[in-house]
Amino acid sequence: MPFHHKVVFVASEIYPFSKTGGLGDVLGALPLTLRRMGLDVCVITPFYGRLSTGEFKLRLISSRCPVGYPWAPITAEIYMADYHGLPVYFIQRGEYFDRRFYYNTHEGDYFDNCERFIFFCRACLEWSRRMDMAPRLIHVHDWQAGLLPAYMHFLRRTDPFWRDTRTMLTIHNLAFQGRFASRLFKESGLPAEAWHMDGVEFWGDFNLLKAGIAYADLVSAVSPTYANEILTPEFGCGLEGILSKRRPNLRGILNGADYSVWDPGSDRYLPCTYSTDDFDNKRNCKQHLLDEMDMDPSLLKRPLLGFIGRLRRQKGVDLLIDILPRLMEMNLGVVVLGEGNLEFEAQLMEMMEAYPARLHVRVGYTEDLAHRIQAASDIFLMPSRYEPCGLTQIYALRFGTPPVATNLGGLSDTIVPYPHPECTGFTFPEATAESFLESILQAVEVYQRPTEWAGIMRRAMQADFSWERAGARYLEVYSELGVHV
Ligand code: ADP
Ligand code: GLC
Repeated sequence: MPFHHKVVFVASEIYPFSKTGGLGDVLGALPLTLRRMGLDVCVITPFYGRLSTGEFKLRLISSRCPVGYPWAPITAEIYMADYHGLPVYFIQRGEYFDRRFYYNTHEGDYFDNCERFIFFCRACLEWSRRMDMAPRLIHVHDWQAGLLPAYMHFLRRTDPFWRDTRTMLTIHNLAFQGRFASRLFKESGLPAEAWHMDGVEFWGDFNLLKAGIAYADLVSAVSPTYANEILTPEFGCGLEGILSKRRPNLRGILNGADYSVWDPGSDRYLPCTYSTDDFDNKRNCKQHLLDEMDMDPSLLKRPLLGFIGRLRRQKGVDLLIDILPRLMEMNLGVVVLGEGNLEFEAQLMEMMEAYPARLHVRVGYTEDLAHRIQAASDIFLMPSRYEPCGLTQIYALRFGTPPVATNLGGLSDTIVPYPHPECTGFTFPEATAESFLESILQAVEVYQRPTEWAGIMRRAMQADFSWERAGARYLEVYSELGVHV
């Protein structure tokens, strides 16, 4: 078969085909960047029922790829798309992936997630093997792909085919671990010796992310600060012990932003584009959004605060809900786009009814609206309780929308806080409602000094978080594993 790649990325999302959050964005940009830097890379990902194929054609390249499942051999179909020159392989098996959502419904996780992602990982192994030569590196992401380094660890011992293949796990969010009942361990087909506290066992359960942490040759987290935080009980989600053991092999690499998708100078979703020297058009974007949302037109001259994200405790959306009544007493507007926790959704909608002219809440997932809110807002809100990297604040910087964010994780690696002479935003020390409100008040005060504010906007827009930088850092880390361009 003519396929062969030096580095195989394995992940459960890739923008624009599939995305629930930042993971999809990263996969939509990092492999392509590495490819442009000369590395031979491909991606393997599930073929969901709800795949956005858009302009990209998917072609069937294998109709019966056998997947050795311990209890019965089954097959997968393999599709391929050419994503700007990057080969993306899709693993298809309807009973696992042809569903309304990827991982869970509003009622909770799909009951067979363990089986689904065991299948996915084993299918990736099988497909990698069929692509002629063994890759030098399998770079996996998050719990859905966490089993691969464990398989590889044991396969390498007995199967010369894989002898020179290394593995790397990137952690995008330690809170999602893929933790399942111990009886499902048998279904993975891993040898019994993997079942111990330095392996896949976690408080009596089977933990797929831990499998990756324990057995990958290298582990990385998506920002330097988060890579340190996860060694502590506060942020380690119970895995701080094994992470500390793996510390010599743990790296922190900051994500980048795909400025071909997220740049107000060329954004195809905006009513008009703008750059550092024509803020007038940013104002036009604001006017447009205020009209669209039927909000008080006088807000054009007052600060508009934007929030975009999963409505979860991680994102501190409950802190925003707590302070909304006080914000509404001030002369400003708030726009929220998100979905997630039903209770948060309901509370936000209820508040919108009380203040329809100054608070607009859109429950749902709408890619183009996310862009338009980034452009229309004056201040971007990100009161996260933890944030592995965070991409929305990086986009906000580029859109000239200084963020107000908690000083932790990737947020502290990307925002230079006021009153630093080079400041690009505002941070506050602790994820509490008081601390958050105080920081907003400070931002609003500075907003009223137009020259100073324009300076912050300009610096924010000029900050460079391009993927080329992050890509160069990944290449350095790959070379530690003997993988070179
Ligand atoms: P996380 O991955 O933790 O959700 P990130 O900041 O890394 O957070 O990435 C979130 C991505 O998902 C961004 O591209 C953001 O614009 C997008 N996003 C989040 N919620 C929504 C939504 N409701 N509608 C559209 N895009 C959203
Ligand atoms: C996760 C994290 C987020 C990060 C993203 C991409 O979803 O919550 O902070 O930016 O992954 O790495």
